[in-house]
Amino acid sequence: MIELPWGGGLFITGWFLTLFFTSVGGQLGSEYGCPTQERILPCRCSTRDMEIQIWQVSRFEYEKKSQSGDVHSLSVNRCSHSELPKVLEGLKAVSHYLDRPVDELILENNNLPSLPGKVFATLRVLRLMLRNNRLERVSSGWLEGLHDSLLELFVVEPDLRSLPIDSLENLQGLEAVTLQSRVMKKLPKFSGLPKLRYLQINSPALLELAPRNFHDLPNLEQFHVFGSPRLIRLEAGLFRGLPRLELMNITDCGVHWVHPRTLIDLPELKEVSLVGNSIVDAGMIGRACMDLPSLSVIRLDRNRINRLGEGAFTDLAVLSRLYLSRNYITEVFAGAFQRMPALKTVDLNHNLIHRIHPEFFPRRPGNILEEMWLINNDLSHVTELRSIMEALPRLKFLDVSHNQIEEIPFGALRGHLTLERLHLDHNRVAFLQRETFTAMPALRELRLKNNSLSNVLEAPFWNLPALKVSGRQVKHFLSPGS
Ligand SMILES: *[C@@H]1O[C@H](CO)[C@@H](O)[C@H](O)[C@H]1NC(C)=O
Ligand SMILES: *[C@@H]1O[C@H](CO)[C@@H](O)[C@H](O)[C@H]1NC(C)=O
Repeated sequence: MIELPWGGGLFITGWFLTLFFTSVGGQLGSEYGCPTQERILPCRCSTRDMEIQIWQVSRFEYEKKSQSGDVHSLSVNRCSHSELPKVLEGLKAVSHYLDRPVDELILENNNLPSLPGKVFATLRVLRLMLRNNRLERVSSGWLEGLHDSLLELFVVEPDLRSLPIDSLENLQGLEAVTLQSRVMKKLPKFSGLPKLRYLQINSPALLELAPRNFHDLPNLEQFHVFGSPRLIRLEAGLFRGLPRLELMNITDCGVHWVHPRTLIDLPELKEVSLVGNSIVDAGMIGRACMDLPSLSVIRLDRNRINRLGEGAFTDLAVLSRLYLSRNYITEVFAGAFQRMPALKTVDLNHNLIHRIHPEFFPRRPGNILEEMWLINNDLSHVTELRSIMEALPRLKFLDVSHNQIEEIPFGALRGHLTLERLHLDHNRVAFLQRETFTAMPALRELRLKNNSLSNVLEAPFWNLPALKVSGRQVKHFLSPGS
């Protein structure tokens, strides 16, 4: 299923050309302001309540309009299985019978291998959606006539080879663009669109993101590219001086090289997501993310990172969450994390970590890391747990389930003031000594499911008033009432 930018499903079914109109007019002589079906064949018209409108931009617009009393419902036109001449006829008829703007014009599942210039010029379209019309090319003036009206462009055309480089120029009101194809290698220019807020691109053939295509977008908030494995480099200045950019999301592409100056002067950037790429060097991303004053989340799950070396993540002043799951990390070196005073969560699940240096996150100036995820790694010594707990004085949650920990010697894990939850499920712990977990006043949840515990100790096993233990084999170690 194809996702609309704001997550709706309104147009998912049917083989239709659909039109939505902005207002309900009595002058058309039909019940809900639709032209009669015969007049606009091959289209059919119906209405739907504007309440179900799903595009965010639309909702905003409709709210404004309905306040002024103009809009109460939307009319919908549907035209099925048509060739270009019939679609053009239908559009012409629509423009003849309607002299107000068309809210949404949807061309879907027609047979339109190419679109001529000015194809929509007789209509004032606010939102244009093209989907699965076998479209291969458009002439460069295809959007002519929509320069004042178009708010949103949604193109999902698997065979579309390209959009002419300048074909989006001068779309003064354009706020959102979604562009999906299977064969598009290069993108048109988006630079200079004054209102663009949302951009989503997907093309398995895409070769590059050229910095010149993304300049001067004062309102861009979200940038998404996904499913483009041939996209392997992000160049210097790709995103530069975009004052409103909050999210850069490049998912399931082939990125393995990111220039240290790919992200420059982005005061509002909060999240960098590079999930599912081919990044080996975490430090390359850490360096590219320095000097972003609002950056709070970095996602690097499903890459090929194999170690976290010294200084991998340094000087990220407001970063609070770092996701590194499903990489090939074997070792976390001294100073891998430095000067990240806001870091709260690190996710290292599903890696191959067998060693964590005690100085991996030097304590000065105070770190406040609270949550550490290490599920399904290769930890076999309690030393690693000790390193984590000592390095992280504010730790509250530690999950080392699905590792190879065998022994927890006496005293090895004692003494941590803030740790509340410790998960050790699915390890190989065979023996627990009295006072193994002492001096942990905050500990309230200890999970030891599916270990190999065989010893039976006399109660009280530990002296931790807040504690509840889960794990069948362990329960009976607890004395009644403890
Ligand atoms: C990034 O894009 C992918 C693919 O479209 C999507 O699944 C994911 O939710 C996006 N991430 C964010 C943080 O929006
Ligand atoms: C317990 O762990 C063993 C070996 O790791 C595994 O084969 C078994 O399925 C696990 N049992 C449960 C209940 O998860």
